[in-house]
Amino acid sequence: LERTFSIIKPDATRRNLTGAINAKFEAAGLRIVAQKRIHLTKAQAGVFYAVHAERPFYDELCEFMASEPIVCQVLEGEGAIAKNREVMGATNPADAAAGTIRAEFAESVGENSVHGSDAPDTAAIEIAYFFSGLELVG
Ligand code: GTP
Ligand code: MG
Repeated sequence: LERTFSIIKPDATRRNLTGAINAKFEAAGLRIVAQKRIHLTKAQAGVFYAVHAERPFYDELCEFMASEPIVCQVLEGEGAIAKNREVMGATNPADAAAGTIRAEFAESVGENSVHGSDAPDTAAIEIAYFFSGLELVG
């Protein structure tokens, strides 16, 4: 089974949407094999989103991700990376398909409720940044 990394972002934890979002993952057949609530520093958010360092929204994105607690997770399932991206919906909630997490919950293209890894190599890097092997309970 494949594993992917997920974050429930500050806009969603602030509005008590953790349970509603987890229900969507589980309904899609994604098992939550690790989960913790943490509060990133802006520097830690910057490392996580380093691939976007040259983008104009990078500073705003890092501020946002460090603004309030997040819930980070490892999701496991068949084709988990693609399946999670499907459940999340498009980056901009205005473009997200009906029934997806971002269509239902996201507030804007920046404050869009969830992160999900986009490929096997990034999933492995992101999981290792947030979790030790002992915390992954498949
Ligand atoms: P992630 O799963 O969070 O990586 O989202 P994504 O893969 O759908 O989008 P992408 O990797 O292109 O962008 C990463 C994150 O940067 C997005 O989820 C948004 O939170 C933020 N972001 C992307 N585009 C914009 C933008 O135009 N303005 C702002 N403020 N934030 C943006
Ligand atoms: Mg991305």
